[in-house]
Amino acid sequence: MVSRRLQIFAITLMLFFCCRTLAQVKGNLVDDKGHFVNAHGAGVLYHNGTYYLFGEIKKGETWLVQGQQWEDYRVPAGGVSCYSSKDLKHWKYEGVALAPTKGDTSKDIDTSRVIERPKVIYNAKTKEYVMWMHVDKKDYSYSQSGVAISYKPAGPYRYLRSVKPNGNMARDMTVFQDDDGKAYLIYSSEQNKTMQVCLLSDDYLAPTKTFSRILIDRNREAPALFKSGGKYYLITSSCTGWSPNAATYAVADSPLGPYKEYGNPCQGPGAETTFEAQSTFVLPLKGKPGNFIFMADRWNKLDLPKSDYLWLPLKVDDGKVTVDGY
Ligand code: GAL
Repeated sequence: MVSRRLQIFAITLMLFFCCRTLAQVKGNLVDDKGHFVNAHGAGVLYHNGTYYLFGEIKKGETWLVQGQQWEDYRVPAGGVSCYSSKDLKHWKYEGVALAPTKGDTSKDIDTSRVIERPKVIYNAKTKEYVMWMHVDKKDYSYSQSGVAISYKPAGPYRYLRSVKPNGNMARDMTVFQDDDGKAYLIYSSEQNKTMQVCLLSDDYLAPTKTFSRILIDRNREAPALFKSGGKYYLITSSCTGWSPNAATYAVADSPLGPYKEYGNPCQGPGAETTFEAQSTFVLPLKGKPGNFIFMADRWNKLDLPKSDYLWLPLKVDDGKVTVDGY
C-alpha cells in the first residue's frame, strides 16, 4: 500500500517538473542552437531585411551589492550579444557583439562593472553601426552612456568611450533614429528624477549641445521611443529597481518634446505591473502602420540570468497606445 502511494507521489512529482520545464521553454526565446536567448534590456536594428537583436549577456552568480539603499542585485557584466532573424520567430545566434574586458576595474566595460540596455543604429553616411549603452559602476554612481562601433551589423564592436551628455548623469537609456537621419539619446538623468533627450552628432558618436529635459520630476526609466503617424511616443517605467511597476506613455510632436503624459498603455489583468515586466524597446512591424511589438524584460532579481522576456502586440489607434496582455 505504502509503495503504491510512493509510486503515485513519484509520478505526480515527475509530471509537475516536466510541465514546469515546458512552461519555461514556452516563456523563453530559443535560438537556432536550442539555447535560451541571452539578450536582456534588448533593442532591435532592422537592416536590409534582417532583424538584429542586441542585449545584455547575463551569466554567472547573482549577488547583492552591500550598503545600497535599494536591492542592488548584480551579475558580472557579460557584454552584448547579437541574434539575427528574418521573421522575428527564428533567431540565429551571431555571437558576442561587444565583449567585456577582464581584470581592470577602472575600465568602462570590465566584467566587474555594469553594461545595460545596448541599442544599435546604422549611420548611412559613415557606414558604421553605432551601439550606445548604459555603463556604470556596480553602485550606479558612474552614470554614463558608452558608445561602440562596427562595420558589420553583428559586430564585433569596438568600444570607444563613455560620456555624461552635457555634463549630465545618464542611466537607463535608449536610442532613436528618426526618418530624417537624425538620432537621439534618451536617458534617465538627474538622479533618475528627470529624463533628457539629446540630439547626437551627425556621425552618431557624440552628444550635441541640443538637449531637452522631459518628464521633469516624474522619476521614470526604461525608455522606449517610437514614431507613429508623425508623432513620437515614449513608454517608460517607474523607478522600482528590478521589481515591475506600471508603465506610462507620453506623446510629442518632436523627439525633443515637449511630451504630454498619458496613463498606462497596458490593458487586462496584470496591467498594473506591465504584466510583471519592464519596457526595453518598441519595434515597428514593417508594412503595418500603427502595429508594433512591445518588448519587455521579466527580471528575476535573485537569479538574473533566468530573467525572461515578454513581447506583446502594441497598437496606436487615433493617438491612443494599447498593449494587451494575454
Ligand atoms: C532597473 C533598470 C535596469 C537595471 C536595474 C538595476 O530599474 O531599469 O536596467 O539598471 O534597475 O537595479
